[in-house]
Amino acid sequence: MMRIGIFASGTGSNAQKIIDYFKNKNPDIIVSLIVCNNPNAKVLEVAKKHGIKSLLITKVEFNSQEFLHTLENHAKLDLIVLAGFLWLIPKEFIRKFKGKIINIHPALLPGFGGKGMYGMAVHKAVKESGNKETGITIHYVNENFDEGEIIFQAKCSIKEKDTPESIALKIQKMEHKHYPRIIESLV
Ligand code: GRF
Repeated sequence: MMRIGIFASGTGSNAQKIIDYFKNKNPDIIVSLIVCNNPNAKVLEVAKKHGIKSLLITKVEFNSQEFLHTLENHAKLDLIVLAGFLWLIPKEFIRKFKGKIINIHPALLPGFGGKGMYGMAVHKAVKESGNKETGITIHYVNENFDEGEIIFQAKCSIKEKDTPESIALKIQKMEHKHYPRIIESLV
């Protein structure tokens, strides 16, 4: 049995897809924990619906030894999956879980990444750049935003008529399709 922890603080549509994928296709892999920093995040409802333990954390808790200890000794996670989690992961955390934390970014890194580049800000910047393609990047997490080693990218074209909103929809579909599969290949 492999255990995945998802860190998410938004809608949780990726979390939902990942949970569904393993329930249906590979029950040897389970999402056993959801970590969230936003009490209003929909992802907490996703966790509840599926009976998955969730931890709502403050920034102080997130940076504490206790939290690290809980993850290491109690949660026993094989992989930490970031899906819409916007806090930088502390250095010690990265060191303890080296090679075991991944993230998905809604553009083709190294372009359109870094602090503040999330959600519609990314798709607006992509559209304004005039680029003819965009995509998704799944990468290992290091101590800087969006800079860890790239594991996988998938591309899609941007048409003249595309808007940041229509790009966002295409990207979301690609994320839902690829993230669970790549996670499966890693664990
Ligand atoms: C995704 O677009 C992902 O690329 C980014 O955060 C978003 C999370 O969306 N890291 P959701 O909460 O899974 O719907």
